[in-house]
Amino acid sequence: MTQRISLTRYLIEKQRGHEGQLAGQGAIPPQLRLLLEVVARACKSISLAVTKGALGGVLGTAESENVQGEIQKKLDIIANEVLIEANEWGGHLAAMASEEMEGIYVVPNRYPQGEYLLMFDPLDGSSNIDVNVSIGTIFSVLLKSPEGPAVSEQDFLQPGTQQVAAGYCLYGPQTTLVLTLGEGVAMFTLDREQGSFVLTQENVRVPEDTQEFAVNMSNMRHWDEPVKRYIDECLQGKDGPRSKDFNMRWIASMVADVHRILTRGGVFMYPWDKREPEKPGKLRLMYEANPMGWLIEQAGGAATDGKQRILDIQPTKLHQRVAVFLGSKNEVERATRYHSEAA
Ligand code: AHG
Ligand code: MN
Ligand code: MN
Ligand code: MN
Repeated sequence: MTQRISLTRYLIEKQRGHEGQLAGQGAIPPQLRLLLEVVARACKSISLAVTKGALGGVLGTAESENVQGEIQKKLDIIANEVLIEANEWGGHLAAMASEEMEGIYVVPNRYPQGEYLLMFDPLDGSSNIDVNVSIGTIFSVLLKSPEGPAVSEQDFLQPGTQQVAAGYCLYGPQTTLVLTLGEGVAMFTLDREQGSFVLTQENVRVPEDTQEFAVNMSNMRHWDEPVKRYIDECLQGKDGPRSKDFNMRWIASMVADVHRILTRGGVFMYPWDKREPEKPGKLRLMYEANPMGWLIEQAGGAATDGKQRILDIQPTKLHQRVAVFLGSKNEVERATRYHSEAA
């Protein structure tokens, strides 16, 4: 039998590369290894809570609204608390930021402060919680700039190219942790009996071409011309300009849609639309678009906002929104080209 590689072993081997002869070559410092172990542990607890469902009293809506103007689900709040409690005491973090918190969460004085910044969408796909459809946790890690003593929101406003680690954990029929450290994408499946994540796929690749798109079609009448053109051409199928039929999937959990794309290709879009013209898009740059964009790029795909590479966007606000086009490279490039042709 081939030996099973746990996430712990995978990360320790990465760290060894950092300390040993391979230093600098895709290797990670001990504090980053600890951080990722802790995030994975938090995801295990969230996975457990998710699995209990109605028996654990975790379904349904809380009384509160988040800074995004969304009514919070109980699990949005639970997952947020699990991630904070797991991460605040380890000494590896300076601060955290979350879709569910208005300001940043600075590591309290009673704990040592580290140099990393952790951002997360604690529970992605909230609308699917109560209907027992796949949901997940998305995370992104940055380094705090060494200048300036006190950590502030400003430290988080770094473009996606600066991420040092990113990933998500999908709570579906299986619980799968997907990770990039900037050298490809690896997938780990939770072994529930052992309680550990086991490496199940390395060097994940997104095919450059696809015949499958993911978009919320009910918004079509609100889209801009380039997006309408792109989708309209797909819908014309074999007899249209694309000369092939397209299939559609929309789970309404970005984690699950991105996971499908990492597994078999496809293109995902959440474009700007006329319902809220002042917002660039629905999805959040720091908690959703940057980590997912980086994972997709690391698997050979592409991610843009229709105009530019997502990872190059200089954020100006913590909760900044962005239009998202990501997945199979040739399709993302086509949708992006349609935007520049219309400009
Ligand atoms: P969240 O549950 O973290 O607020 O994110 C939901 C996002 C994303 O996961 C998904 O792709 C999209 O919202 C679905 O939006 P629609 O309900 O408008 O289709
Ligand atoms: Mn939300
Ligand atoms: Mn989300
Ligand atoms: Mn969320």
